[in-house]
Amino acid sequence: MLQRFFLFRYYNCSNFSYFYAMANQDDTFKKVISHAKEYGYIFGSSEIYDGLSAVYDYGQNGVELKKNIREYWWKSMVYMHQNIVGLDASIFMHPTTWKASGHVDAFNDPLIDNKDSKKRYRADVLIEDYAEKLNIKAQKEITKAKKRFGESFNETEFVTTNPRVVGYLSKRDTILARMGKALENEDLADVKALIEELEIADPDTGSKNWTDVRQFNLMFGTKLGASAETATDLYLRPETAQGIFVNFLNVQKTGRMKIPFGIAQTGKAFRNEIVARQFIFRMREFEQMEMQFFVRPGEEMKWYTYWKETRLNWHKSLGLGEENYRFHDHDKLAHYANAAADIEFNFPFGFKELEGIHSRTDFDLKAHEEHSGKKLQFFDPELKENYVPYVVETSLGLDRMFLAVFSKALQEEKLEDGSSRTVLKLPAVVAPIKAAVFPLVKKDGLPDIANKIVEDLKWDFNVIYEEKDAVGRRYRRQDANGTPFCITVDHDTLENNTVTIRDRDTMEQKRVAITDLKGIIAEKTSMQRWLK
Ligand code: GAP
Repeated sequence: MLQRFFLFRYYNCSNFSYFYAMANQDDTFKKVISHAKEYGYIFGSSEIYDGLSAVYDYGQNGVELKKNIREYWWKSMVYMHQNIVGLDASIFMHPTTWKASGHVDAFNDPLIDNKDSKKRYRADVLIEDYAEKLNIKAQKEITKAKKRFGESFNETEFVTTNPRVVGYLSKRDTILARMGKALENEDLADVKALIEELEIADPDTGSKNWTDVRQFNLMFGTKLGASAETATDLYLRPETAQGIFVNFLNVQKTGRMKIPFGIAQTGKAFRNEIVARQFIFRMREFEQMEMQFFVRPGEEMKWYTYWKETRLNWHKSLGLGEENYRFHDHDKLAHYANAAADIEFNFPFGFKELEGIHSRTDFDLKAHEEHSGKKLQFFDPELKENYVPYVVETSLGLDRMFLAVFSKALQEEKLEDGSSRTVLKLPAVVAPIKAAVFPLVKKDGLPDIANKIVEDLKWDFNVIYEEKDAVGRRYRRQDANGTPFCITVDHDTLENNTVTIRDRDTMEQKRVAITDLKGIIAEKTSMQRWLK
């Protein structure tokens, strides 16, 4: 995490398939953003004042979807594992926490300013964008050759032998390798030299008049205390994990936890990202869902493998398509880790990190021992010895998870009659509203029955009553809203206490007894059904 500019970004720009359908991806992404706003999922923060960059608010539907994703994670981690318990640590922590964790000294991104435009950029991103252009050029050559040679085209051979493609790709690799090395060695002068040698210009103005590259700490500072003289400098936490480390012994002792055991936590984290792009993918205020799993030294690789697989299966359980996930194992490791991998997801802008799984050794607990002077050790009754446990961490961004679910769920479907519909196929278990109940018409006692159904169901599910517009339009509205079921009360209901229930995804309608509704909705939305 501390070397995130290297570990995270370097890999992504060498991802070749990223460039395949850039134009389409842009369109898809724009639709995701506008749909999220139109249907009350996400708004820009303080929009009436023109918003705040990379800060977002969740609307009436967004807050429900986010809560349901959080709960899906929480229950799968805490309720499904007898040896994992929860925690809710404060956002403010003693400032020494961040010295011990290494964030004060090393939680940096390299930034550069353009002297003419006065705009600020991440130096590594400017270089990556340059490398991306080489990638695009290579891709164009491949696409042209594919068209020319048709079925007989051997892409692997072409990529390794065509002089132009080989030239573009090797230049890209050389640039990225040099940047990686310079960043690793903290050689910021070489990062600037690279920008100048490549003649990289300000993307907005074309100016090449750059300042030196400097490190920029991503933590937000604030003050605790009323008077300027006595106030203490604090940081808004940049990750939730440290709240778990400093409470390790409190939880272990009061919960009589035996190793291996885990502590899970969800909560806000804050990072002053220099360049925050891509909607809720990279925000300045975001939420994390983290779990630290404390293990015997020497057993960490077994648990690392276990958590990699368990977390991937959790993602797959939501049915967004197995092909949309892949692992990226880090070859370059941060100084505290002995293994690390990302679960990447196929976002509208390509495969990018969704969750990190890190084997963090005993680095954090030992650092807190050193800085606090307190022992953070476990007495292992089987081994009859004290030790500082090793830690395997799973760290998922809730907002990023929201984007993954929302962007894959949003679909434009062609229907048999030639018309099309916009449907948000959210997994029913996390959908904000589980059912909408309609009276077919606003008379003949149908609204009363529909309202009574809402009254009965609302104890178990988030359901709504809707009577505005023709029933077909109400169906479409709920499709776009992501509601898995629409229940319609019609004149037959008056005769036999049955209603129609329409499935959002198949659009199939069934006639069922009102008394069966609860069971039908529970079956489709229960966590057990999805997680199993
Ligand atoms: N404790 C480990 C840690 O914080 P990280 O890779 O820096 O590791 C973990 O972050 C996860 O948090 C990421 O995989 C991502 O899902 C999410 N995340 C990180 N920075 C974010 C940001 N600026 N906006 C939204 N989500 C972010």
